[in-house]
Formats: sequence, structure tokens, C-alpha cells
Amino acid sequence: MFKTPDLFTIVDFYIDELFAAEDEALKEAAEAARRHDLPQIQVSPNQGKLLYLFAKLAGAKRILEIGTLGGYSAIWLARALPEDGKLITLEADERCARVATASIANAGLSGRVELVVGDATTTLPAIIGDAPAPFDLVFLDADKINYPVYLNLIMQCVRSGSLILADNVIRAGTVLAPRAEDPSALAARAFNKMIAEHERLEAVVLQQVGAKGHDGLAIARVR
Ligand code: SAH
Ligand code: DHB
Ligand code: MG
Repeated sequence: MFKTPDLFTIVDFYIDELFAAEDEALKEAAEAARRHDLPQIQVSPNQGKLLYLFAKLAGAKRILEIGTLGGYSAIWLARALPEDGKLITLEADERCARVATASIANAGLSGRVELVVGDATTTLPAIIGDAPAPFDLVFLDADKINYPVYLNLIMQCVRSGSLILADNVIRAGTVLAPRAEDPSALAARAFNKMIAEHERLEAVVLQQVGAKGHDGLAIARVR
């Protein structure tokens, strides 16, 4: 999406190969997304590995993902769960959800993953109402304009020590001075300010460069 010098991309591939080699299920999930013409915007392999490591470090048993796409990041996250763990992943687009359901099944993870189809601004309040326990980790990666809305909802279903991750919060630096025609950058800037100043959060943004251009991952821990 955002162009950066080639060296960052080459180094990104080096890191992928060394630390985040895809097995058959991940390769097939990426291939299915291409075959079905889904947007090619899933996390890179090493970003998937980072999500996996965060989930393991957090000892997560319950994970919430907002924005499933073809299930690529869901597979990385679900693999970090214990046998009795659970990932709930929310996707508005039915076609994406069908591809994701098949890829998650192909990875042998259907038992640990629940995919909820529908606009997450609607489905999430219901999920929060029904949830038997707070989420240990939340990965926010859906429509950027609703990040502030999602944050307010997420804060209702986390506990002290929960980890909140949010993708694409730097947007090639457009968050520094968002143009009026770029509502995603405006929302990301508002979201970053919210997590920076939130009395229940301690947060930082990790700048990222590589195959997906220049962006950033927000990392927040609930007090
Ligand atoms: N996490 C995925 C990528 C997600 S891309 C991965 O790394 O593999 C963003 C996804 O959010 C898209 O599939 C898009 O359809 C979905 N989305 C956009 N708006 C949404 C909404 N309001 N509710 C739920 N999902 C939404
Ligand atoms: C877009 C969305 C993403 O989640 C991402 O990681 C990169 C790009 C997009 O909507 O263009
Ligand atoms: Mg993303």
C-alpha cells in the first residue's frame, strides 16, 4: 500500500524466511486469498509471528480479532492458543468469511476459532454482552475509521493485564497531518491520542517498514 525503499522489503523477506517460514496451511491460506481476489493486505509472515509471540507472552486463552479477511492472521493467533483456548474473529464481508472459514478449517483450527459475520460495530456489543470472560488479547485490524468506536467497545471486554494490538496506525506518516480526504489517517491519529491518554492504558506504537510499506502497530496494556 505505502511504498518504501527496496532494502526494507528485501530485509523483510530475509526475516520472514529465517523466523516466520510459512507451513502448508499458511501458504494455502495466502493462496486462497489471492485466488478469490481478496485484498492482499493481510499481515506479513513476520507480523503474523509477532502476533503469535504476543499471544504466547500474554498467556492468552481468549483472543478477539476485529477484521478477519481470509483468516491469515487468525491462523497465526489461534496457533498460540492452548487446546481449550478460543479466538473470536469478526468479519463484515461474507465472501471473506467463506474463504477464511475454509482456510481456518484447512489449518485444523475450526475447534478453537469462532468467526462472526457482520459489521463489528454491531456484532461486538452483542459478543461483549454474551462473553463468559474478558479477552486476554485483542487484535484490531478492521475499518480504520471506526478504530475509536472499537476502542471504546474493547475497553468493556478486557481486564487488568490484557493486551490490545492495533494494526495500521502510522499509515506512511499520514497520521502526522491527516488531509481531510483521508478519514482513515484522521481516525488513526484520533485513536493514537486516545490510547496515549487513556487512564486505563499504557501504550506505545511500534513503527514498521517492509513488504507492506511504512506503517505502525499500536501496543497497549490495560492497567
Ligand atoms: N487481520 C487480517 C486482515 C484484515 S483486513 C489479516 O491480517 O489476515 C480488514 C478486514 O476488515 C477486511 O476483511 C474487511 O472486510 C473487514 N472489515 C471492514 N470493516 C468492517 C466492519 N465494520 N466490521 C467487520 N469487519 C470489517
Ligand atoms: C489496508 C488495511 C489493512 O489492515 C492493512 O494492514 C493494510 C492496508 C487497507 O485497507 O488498505
Ligand atoms: Mg492491517
